[in-house]
Amino acid sequence: MKKAMWTIFGGALLLYIVIVMVIAVGPAIDLAQTPPGPGVVPLTPLQEEGRQVFASNGCDYCHTLQVRPLPEDVPFGRPSAPGDFAYATPEMLGSERTGPDLTNVGNRRGEIWQYMHLYDPRAVSPDSIMPNFKFLFREVKAVPEGETAVSIPAAFAPKNGDKVIATQKAKALVAFLMSLKQAPIPGYKMNGGMGGPATAAAPAASAPAAPAGGYAYDAAKGKALFDSTCAACHQASGEGVPGAFPPLKGNAAVDNADPTLHLHTILHGAHGVTIGGVAYAGVMPEFGSQLSDDDIANIANYERSSWGNHAKPVTPSEVAKIRAAGK
Ligand code: HEC
Ligand code: HEC
Repeated sequence: MKKAMWTIFGGALLLYIVIVMVIAVGPAIDLAQTPPGPGVVPLTPLQEEGRQVFASNGCDYCHTLQVRPLPEDVPFGRPSAPGDFAYATPEMLGSERTGPDLTNVGNRRGEIWQYMHLYDPRAVSPDSIMPNFKFLFREVKAVPEGETAVSIPAAFAPKNGDKVIATQKAKALVAFLMSLKQAPIPGYKMNGGMGGPATAAAPAASAPAAPAGGYAYDAAKGKALFDSTCAACHQASGEGVPGAFPPLKGNAAVDNADPTLHLHTILHGAHGVTIGGVAYAGVMPEFGSQLSDDDIANIANYERSSWGNHAKPVTPSEVAKIRAAGK
């Protein structure tokens, strides 16, 4: 009788130990031995501090930090690989996507945008349901020496005229968010490079070619691309945010028969250009590496024909020419 009891207890214990080894200890050892992927670098102390702020404020309740190899994840970047997480332990993969995946957000948004968005998401994303994180900022009468005020659109700025400055926590958090950039995997092709389900997202590549002879601007695509890639900074109204992002409505580079500066800015980005007499502190990111000539032509034509702009449309071959000319 006693022997049978020990057999049952010992057997169950052994089974338990085997299961723990297989589903927890083994994978942990395997992960710890995974070398960092190409271009994956350790976080700086400030970025690591920001990772703690990210965790302690529950950002991962609404945001994942993992891109799945599924067609619906294509907008967030290439599928995550184990080597991406070599320095981000313990991993915060997240499981809920009330907001977008943030794996590659450092390549999508700039620093100024991040500060404005954390202070009040509605200031840059009008329909956002993300809570504000104003407690990561201080409102002051005068900006102290060595600090820079965060640019906030008038409708969202403190009503008493106070200036908004970032606390150490906000600076660390933004440093972490800006570090979220996927390193390219040599030889990996987005849309179809993976085989399996990702290939299902490829139809764009095999879409019917433009009718021979004429180029037709796809207005709906131009608007959709502008809204998803440019409107966060330049606003859907094309009016920009005073002091932070220039208006494209009536912009001399956009509403201009010569598209060179317009296309050059989209392809290569810009910094330190004085636009309409205003010097902008922010950086216009480059989109040449993310968008095809066709997409850029559609976006440019949307801008050239919206908000009262009336500039001659551009073609993908003009984009290709300016791309080939280089920076
Ligand atoms: C209640 C859910 C929720 C929480 C909590 C939350 N967010 Fe968001 N977040 C959203 C939603 C929804 C969006 C999409 C709308 C928008 O851009 O504001 C978003 C958008 C974003 C974006 C822009 C992503 C992109 O691709 O444009 C960033 C960056 C971001 N959140 C960071 C954070 C950080 C950092 C925290 C924690 C301090 C946080 N979020 C907490 C819901 C949330
Ligand atoms: C992260 C914010 C941000 C995003 C996103 C963004 N821009 Fe900009 N853009 C800027 C800033 C900042 C400037 C001013 C740069 C400067 O002063 O040198 C600018 C300038 C411009 C200009 C004016 C160039 C000139 O010399 O007058 C154009 C045109 C432009 N952007 C188009 C676009 C298009 C098209 C997209 C989407 C594909 C886009 N921007 C996305 C921030 C952004």
